[in-house]
Amino acid sequence: MKKLGITLIILVALGSLGFAKGGQQGGGSSSTQAALIGIAMPETHVQRWQKDGANLKAAVEKLGYRAEVAYGDADQNRQNQQIQNFLTNGAKLLIVGNINDGVNSAIADAAQDNVTVIAYDRLIMNSGDYDYYITFNNYKVGQFQGQGLETGLNLKEASADAPKYITLFAGSPTDNNAKFFFDGAMSVLNPYIKSGALKVIGPYPETSADNANFQRIATENWQAPIAKTRMENLLNNDAANVVLDGILAPNDTLARAIIEACLADAKYADGKLPVVTGQDAEADSVLSIKNGQQYMTVFKDTAKLAEAAVSLADQIIKGQTPSIPGATLASGDLVSIGDTGKKQVKAYLLEPVIITQSNWQVPLDAGHFTAEESARLK
Ligand code: GAL
Repeated sequence: MKKLGITLIILVALGSLGFAKGGQQGGGSSSTQAALIGIAMPETHVQRWQKDGANLKAAVEKLGYRAEVAYGDADQNRQNQQIQNFLTNGAKLLIVGNINDGVNSAIADAAQDNVTVIAYDRLIMNSGDYDYYITFNNYKVGQFQGQGLETGLNLKEASADAPKYITLFAGSPTDNNAKFFFDGAMSVLNPYIKSGALKVIGPYPETSADNANFQRIATENWQAPIAKTRMENLLNNDAANVVLDGILAPNDTLARAIIEACLADAKYADGKLPVVTGQDAEADSVLSIKNGQQYMTVFKDTAKLAEAAVSLADQIIKGQTPSIPGATLASGDLVSIGDTGKKQVKAYLLEPVIITQSNWQVPLDAGHFTAEESARLK
């Protein structure tokens, strides 16, 4: 009787473990454990990625899977090691925001082990070893930045007789997104440059395809100190004899570094900053926008991206045909967003939102900020 009781208790305990975990059918190293999802994030020095890691982990656990998160610190070898660890730990699926193409050997190893990979936010280029990508409409992000300059500089009224002056910055040359952001922005700005209403100080790649000039304006690994130094050099050299009206900055981290460099220059101190663009709706930048320094940012609701990525993961693990609420499968012109150069992967896109002083509350209302950040913004 006693024996039967113990057996029953063990059976009930095992059963409840199994039924409680939605990821059960994914397997894992032991049949009673929920499937493991490995989350590899690129860096922590850009605030958004800290949120992405936390959001993804919460969303994965909410669906009953196990989650492991690792940050690569902008070092691809380190991230590859982290991915290997996920594989060793029996991960069923990986969600990867990579640093550069050096990730491909790790992605190939995952494919070898039949582990599904979802490229998260950044397309993993030159790989044919995975099938899914989830991100925002990155071309539109760039268009919003171009429109920020168009509105902020009132370019529709500018002419070759009274031109506006801008300088251009791009994101990391190893991040495929940086090209989409830049090309989207230039699709808005190029007509004004052609007409002479807008003049570019410093290198002018018409698109990211002008690789030599694109490299000159790009910012390795999105490092703020690199952008700050480049801005200081511009202010002392190419831009020494003009007053810049605008600066195309690809994200908030770099926008703030650029603004810092400008504020140290007498021409731009005391409310005379150029119109500076951004991206990510980081708390410090939204505060800067609210206070009239940075001109705009682009809000990408990364909590929604994380939820959508995990819903995609869940459907793949369950063998379903993915249908992701809030995200659309790229089609038409946007299909190229999923072209790795070796394979066309399925790209699911979420919509970004443009933020200026008139609607800075939008990311706050969406719950984008931590309690501490929200308190600073109010
Ligand atoms: C991009 C990402 C941006 C940005 C940047 C810097 O890939 O889409 O949101 O923050 O990386 O990490």
